[in-house]
Order: sequence, then structure tokens, then C-alpha cells
Amino acid sequence: MSRYSVKDKVAIVTGSSQGIGKAIAIALSAKGAKVVLNSRSLEPLQKTKTELKEMGYDVLAVQGDVSVYDDCERLVKETVDTFGQIDILINNAAISSEGSIEDTSPEVFEKMFKINLMGVINPTKAALSYIRKTKGSIVFTGSISGFMGLPNYSAYSSSKMALTSLVHALKLELVGTGVHVGLNYVGFTENEEQKTFITAEGKSEVVPVRKQFAKMSREKVAKHFVKGIERRKYKQTLTWLGKFIRVGLQYFPQIFEMAMTLAWKRIQKKRHGI
Ligand SMILES: NC(=O)c1ccc[n+]([C@@H]2O[C@H](COP(=O)([O-])OP(=O)(O)OC[C@H]3O[C@@H](n4cnc5c(N)ncnc54)[C@H](OP(=O)(O)O)[C@@H]3O)[C@@H](O)[C@H]2O)c1
Repeated sequence: MSRYSVKDKVAIVTGSSQGIGKAIAIALSAKGAKVVLNSRSLEPLQKTKTELKEMGYDVLAVQGDVSVYDDCERLVKETVDTFGQIDILINNAAISSEGSIEDTSPEVFEKMFKINLMGVINPTKAALSYIRKTKGSIVFTGSISGFMGLPNYSAYSSSKMALTSLVHALKLELVGTGVHVGLNYVGFTENEEQKTFITAEGKSEVVPVRKQFAKMSREKVAKHFVKGIERRKYKQTLTWLGKFIRVGLQYFPQIFEMAMTLAWKRIQKKRHGI
């Protein structure tokens, strides 16, 4: 079967001023796609745009918040005004948080679901009629944290688990249209130094540096995204740990529940001495 080529295709990558989104933007550009960058903050977005331009790539940057529908309509309009079409949408923008259900404020839950869920629904709705015309791709950035409910990561893990049914529904709704729908369950990835998360009280803090264990580089994650589009894959699980957890949960869910319960107890002991 001949592969779908991303060369000369127009791709929007949400949340691409840094991190995995930026790596996907570079990987798509390197294969000849025209890429539209996006994020809420203007300065890092412009910096990334300049970086990609200096690499010789054809890029546009549109500032906007994916949790706001009007911003997504503008993102789509500016893309079509500049490049004439949309072939690929990578729903990548998301935020992470820490905290139990008991400790996390309702405002933090609302923010998480607004960005991590409405933030993929809004761009998809805004871009869908154009992607139908080009029979292109809509790809979502899931997480291995979305395989089960994770204590202390309740808001994040549930927002990522919801993607599974959302993407499944979209895939079925688009059967026969020629549009490819993909969901990549990303595992532990090397973070940008400045990556932040939201605390249970709603404060923004820098994510502590992770140990090397089972981490994948952002460039490798991006390669999997591009391969998934070229091969029109529905689901991919990244990292050996991700694959191990996915299969393990299917056959031995109690073992994983036990491990998570122990980890949660350790966190509580450290935090409250109980
Ligand atoms: N890093 C990991 O280990 C890991 C593992 C599994 C899954 N993932 C997933 O991979 C994706 C990227 O993560 P990352 O680690 O690269 O994160 P990151 O370094 O924090 O980058 C997130 C990007 O999204 C943008 N963004 C956040 N909220 C936005 C909004 N409402 N509207 C538009 N842009 C927004 C950020 O810029 P602004 O803040 O300026 O908007 C930034 O460009 C996320 O979906 C995440 O859940 C990551």
C-alpha cells in the first residue's frame, strides 16, 4: 500500500511553541509540509517561528487559546488565507496538573477540562470541513496516563482518558469520508526545562526534572507522529513502558492498582506524614 505523503501538505500543530508540539512541527516541516504553529504566549511562539524560518521551512504562527472557539476559527481562517487549505490537524496543546480529587479546586478541574478537552474539540470542529475536502488527518496527543485513573493526577488522567472515547466517536463518524483519525498514547518524554504544571490550588510550577528511566526524546515522539500520519494508523502507544502498562492493565489490572495505591500512599506520607 502506498504511504500518505506529508510533503506540501498544510498542517496545524496546536501548542507548538515548545515541547512535543515544536518537535512535531519540525519533523513535519523536514518532510516538506507547510506548518502552522500555535500557542497562547506570543513571545515563545514568535521565537519558534523564527527558528523554523531560519531552518528554511514554510511556517505561519497564529497566537490563540484552543479552549476558546473563536480563537480556533481564527486559527483556521488564517491558515486557509495563507496556505489555501488544511490537510493535517495535530491536537497537541494540553496542560498537566497534580492533586487528588479532594485537594484539587473545582476551578483547576474546569481549567484542565476546558483546555485538554474543549481544546481538542474546538480546533477539530473549526477545521473539519476543510480536512474533509483534502481527506487529510486529525491526530490527537493522548497519554499513557489516560489508560487508568491515576491518584494525584486525577484531573490530568481523566482528561486524557476521555480522549479515547472522543477520538473513537470521531473515527466512526468519519467512516467513508477518507479522513484519517489517529490517537497517540505518549509515554514519559524529555520535557522542556520551562514546562509547567498546575498545582491543586491553581498555581503554576515548573515540572521537576525526571530521571532518565524509560524517557523518549521529543524528536523520537515526533517521528512516531509523522509515521502514524503516513501509515494512517488509528492508535499508537509510545515507549516500552507504555506498551507494558497497556498490556499489563488488560490482563493484570489488580497488580497495577496495587502499585498505584502504594505510590499514592507514599505521596500522602511525604505530604502530610500520614
Ligand atoms: N511531556 C510528557 O512526558 C508527555 C507525556 C504524555 C503526553 N504528553 C502530552 O503531549 C502534549 C505536549 O506536552 P509537552 O510536554 O510538550 O508540553 P509543554 O512543554 O508544556 O508544551 C505545551 C504547549 O502547548 C501550549 N498550550 C498550552 N495550553 C494551550 C492553550 N490553551 N492553547 C494553545 N496552546 C496551549 C503551550 O504554550 P502556551 O502555554 O504559551 O499556550 C506550549 O506551546 C500534551 O498534550 C501532553 O499532555 C506529554
